[in-house]
Amino acid sequence: MDTKLRIGILGCGPISQAAHIEACRKGRNVELYALCDAAEDLLSEMTLVHKPKFSYQRYEDMLANEDIDAVIVATNDYFHVPAAIQALRAGKHVLVEKPLGTSLEECLELEQAVIETGLILQVGNMKRFDGGIMAAREFIQTEMGELLALKAWYCDNVGRYTVTDNVMPIIVLSASTIRPPFDHKADKQRYYLLAHGSHLVDTARFLGGEIVSIQAHHTERFGAHNWLATVEFASGSFGQLDLTIGVRMDWHEGFQVYGEYGSVVGKTYNPWLFKSSDVEIYSVRDEQFRRPLAIDGHFYRRQVEGFADAILENKPVHGATVEDGVAAVRALIAISQSVKTGEPVRLKDVQGEV
Ligand SMILES: NC(=O)c1ccc[n+]([C@@H]2O[C@H](COP(=O)([O-])OP(=O)(O)OC[C@H]3O[C@@H](n4cnc5c(N)ncnc54)[C@H](O)[C@@H]3O)[C@@H](O)[C@H]2O)c1
Repeated sequence: MDTKLRIGILGCGPISQAAHIEACRKGRNVELYALCDAAEDLLSEMTLVHKPKFSYQRYEDMLANEDIDAVIVATNDYFHVPAAIQALRAGKHVLVEKPLGTSLEECLELEQAVIETGLILQVGNMKRFDGGIMAAREFIQTEMGELLALKAWYCDNVGRYTVTDNVMPIIVLSASTIRPPFDHKADKQRYYLLAHGSHLVDTARFLGGEIVSIQAHHTERFGAHNWLATVEFASGSFGQLDLTIGVRMDWHEGFQVYGEYGSVVGKTYNPWLFKSSDVEIYSVRDEQFRRPLAIDGHFYRRQVEGFADAILENKPVHGATVEDGVAAVRALIAISQSVKTGEPVRLKDVQGEV
């Protein structure tokens, strides 16, 4: 295998234009080898600007290119699992956008395909590559001792589009993109859980460990949605998660973790500002606060570089694995089921769709 991972990106939509294409062009160990999108106008514009070696309208044709080592699946959530399975069956490693899928059954099918092919699959939970969050996890795993409690919040704000319009490249749209045969944003609760809840539960698991049960409440007022959830970790400790979409303030995301030999408080920024989380770690051992400054906040580039390190250099997968992706989908299903019944839901008992 070459020293650079040759990547084909499926989907030239907003996330690829704002993150993945640039990440593959700037990454130290990756090459933007191919682009694929059914929308001819979008594909030709992206090809003109970014100059991949190949571009394809048909996914099958891209997968048939034997020189492509790995595929980034950057499509609508509803196509993640079939597209990822197709890539694995064609012998490609896969970086698939979050959430892994929309139902537990399809995610388990994908997990099986990963096991059978022995290839690497990483889920696009790019916050795992936020240097501030990484420092928090390092402290939690090596110095903090036992977990007492965790709080984490992800509150997307009403003004976020003003910010993203300012900082993102101008997004090219097309009338011919492939979309699911229904309006995937019509059911707001489901859409927000998949789009945003997938980040929150992954961060909670990354810092707090396996979640075994969830009890959640949901409130909708003046077009804003809030979920408050109590989660039980496998360690027996508890956490509180707050997912709010349309909070009337600035972007508000972060966490507090209380442990035996210290605590961590983190403030996470709107990802499109490419600024790592501010994290303050207090260690009982040295009676000091530490505030690591993670300068490099290009989480999407760091994510694809980490993916390539795992493939090219046999390093352990630092990003979310297929098991993490399945666990996050279980947690999202548990949240939506608990909202309906008011009862705690055990993650091992869930099935069906988010
Ligand atoms: N990690 C993050 O911060 C983050 C942020 C935004 C979006 N996302 C995720 O990224 C994913 C994509 O989002 P988007 O807004 O770019 O989606 P989109 O649906 O607007 O764009 C996807 C593109 O893929 C193309 N496509 C889909 N299936 C295809 C196929 N079989 N063959 C050829 N082309 C195909 C479509 O034509 C479309 O242009 C979503 O799952 C979303 O959750 C992640």
